[in-house]
Amino acid sequence: MLDAPIGVFDSGIGGITILQAVRDLLPNENYVYYGDSRNCPFGTKKLSELKQIVCAATEFLLKKQAKLIIVACNTATTRTIEYLRKSFPEVQFIGTEPAIKLACDTGASNILLLSTEGTAHSSRTQELIEENIRPGQTVENIPCLGLAEAIETRDEKKILENLMKNFSKIEDREEIEVVILGCTHYPLAKAEIQKFFPKARLVDGGIGVAKQTKKVLEASKLLNKNNVRGKEEYFFSK
Ligand code: DGL
Repeated sequence: MLDAPIGVFDSGIGGITILQAVRDLLPNENYVYYGDSRNCPFGTKKLSELKQIVCAATEFLLKKQAKLIIVACNTATTRTIEYLRKSFPEVQFIGTEPAIKLACDTGASNILLLSTEGTAHSSRTQELIEENIRPGQTVENIPCLGLAEAIETRDEKKILENLMKNFSKIEDREEIEVVILGCTHYPLAKAEIQKFFPKARLVDGGIGVAKQTKKVLEASKLLNKNNVRGKEEYFFSK
């Protein structure tokens, strides 16, 4: 059981950024990754459809004997993690939420949150902003239409065109101090995004997910005690 893998899922390659952050902290664990490319993007899905998708991904990972499941997707977490926890009460889930707390804790005045439509419009995101925002701070919440899909193609030209379309309308880009990468695909285009916000620090939820995973595994005595680097297995739906 301790050797059983940590399951990680997303709509495609984005969640690999989370797997890497967790792997850095817990190198000896085994990992099984499921990228549901067939259902990419999650960000524009209706809630009823997204619920079915996340349940199927969970079942897939349970069949691979996952001892814990990381929802490596901000959209799926903000919109469906409570539903998942109710549907699979015996499973421990770790979610990935936009790093709004981390951004507000920097004390910066001008914060920009970039995410999918699903995340940007979710009540959980609104709640996170209200819980963490301090006097004098603004958190501008911008859905980036089509960006996760563009990143999924790995086509540099498509990614740049999309960034131009989404970001050129944002005023005072030079004034932005912190940009929250609120979708797990976005760190894969970090260097390109940085160019649009030259003075900003870019933050994401990877480290938070890694720390939370370690804490939960320790508390439930499920940490892998092996002294060797664990393995990774990747599966993608077509
Ligand atoms: N990477 C996911 C997220 O963090 C989903 C992107 C998408 O498929 O729309 O939101």
